[in-house]
Amino acid sequence: MATTTRKKQIGLKPGGDRRYAHVVGWGVEIPERVLTNHEIEMMVDTNDQWIRERTGIAERRIADDRDTTVTLGVRAARKALSHADLNPSDIDLIIVATSSPAYLFPATACLIQDRLGATDAGAFDVLAACSGFIFALGLASAQIRAGMVNTALVIGTETLSRIVDWTDRGTCILFADGAGAFVLHASEVPGGVQHVVMHSDGSGGELLCAPSGVRPTWNGTPAPDVLTQMNGREVFRFATRVMVSATEEVLDKANLTTSDIDVVVPHQANLRIIQAAARGLDLPMDKFIVNIDRYGNTSTASIPIAVAEAVESGRIRPNDKIVLVGFGGGLTWGAALIEWQVMATPASAAREVVREGWYIVARIRSLMRRVFRFLEAVLGGSPTSEALRAEEKARRSSSKPSNNDKPER
Ligand code: COA
Repeated sequence: MATTTRKKQIGLKPGGDRRYAHVVGWGVEIPERVLTNHEIEMMVDTNDQWIRERTGIAERRIADDRDTTVTLGVRAARKALSHADLNPSDIDLIIVATSSPAYLFPATACLIQDRLGATDAGAFDVLAACSGFIFALGLASAQIRAGMVNTALVIGTETLSRIVDWTDRGTCILFADGAGAFVLHASEVPGGVQHVVMHSDGSGGELLCAPSGVRPTWNGTPAPDVLTQMNGREVFRFATRVMVSATEEVLDKANLTTSDIDVVVPHQANLRIIQAAARGLDLPMDKFIVNIDRYGNTSTASIPIAVAEAVESGRIRPNDKIVLVGFGGGLTWGAALIEWQVMATPASAAREVVREGWYIVARIRSLMRRVFRFLEAVLGGSPTSEALRAEEKARRSSSKPSNNDKPER
């Protein structure tokens, strides 16, 4: 199995060698449908020139009606696994960052786990708005470095177009859809995700929010305003401050200065915010990856999409020190320092076929489980108290330690 192969390759001794969390695969899913500024001119009182000058956005992508946050995330994840040449069965942990989940629960991560057939993975969501990908990366890399897991999938996926108020010119010009994913893997080679800083200030929560539709009380009426609301000027002011402070903080932790950074990948919210961060850090704009002109603000997906494009175009190279920095509703903000070590290794055709087969089996397995659960409910009815007692007895006897399980002294 690939996990075994990888574990052998990296030669980690349990509890022994120092562990590092490397990004070994990345993938993006960009919806095909382009929505231009000119099209938005037909919807609200705005114009292409204003949007370009105030935000840097020329166009953005909108998910197909048949797509969801889950389907975009699955496609990005599959590409990332293919890049890493790993199978879904190798994944120990899936963390999805999203601001536009299809459900409050189940977690988007669980639905993606099922679609991938990542049967050994624990899966959960992180809700930290546009900082979510950095927060998820922090959690996953910490799990790997602590020896809790070997392989983690971190996904940022959004269908923000579904929670945007298309009559509000202050927000609808900004937000868009897309997904990006990283595969992280344990290695004894120094580098990878080195430090992550995360911050929150809930006192600014109302500056950027999307009420969930949850009733205010158990017998109340659901809130009518469930779409995204934002105080653009305040968020702008906050963003320009924290992009600089978070970058400086993560560099401080690594005893580095801005002159050591090769590339900064900022959250793509507004070109003027990125330019202000560059001025605040006294760095030239050519160190910053910018693709907001083509994709708008895809929240948690913006950083992994920008990283993947920068790697593919050669802007990020092995041994580069890169800073990912972002901010969002919450308020939240954070930064990650990565020493980039791994270049794309083309997956073998045979293993690609195995992976494709795995995804088909995953769909069948998921369907069978649903059918089995249905039949169990119809035929078995509610479990009787005798059956529950017998089950509990069996569970206890199977969890009793045998002589072979005695701990070593
Ligand atoms: N088209 C045309 N005019 C617009 C407009 C639009 N889409 N949106 C606002 N305006 C108008 C305003 O009504 C205002 O008019 P007034 O002076 O007559 O009152 C004027 O443009 C300036 O508005 P202001 O809100 O000061 O613009 P701005 O330069 O701050 O730009 C944002 C607005 C939203 C683009 C900007 O504040 C921003 O990007 N903020 C950060 C938002 C963000 O990043 N959110 C995501 C966080 S993850």
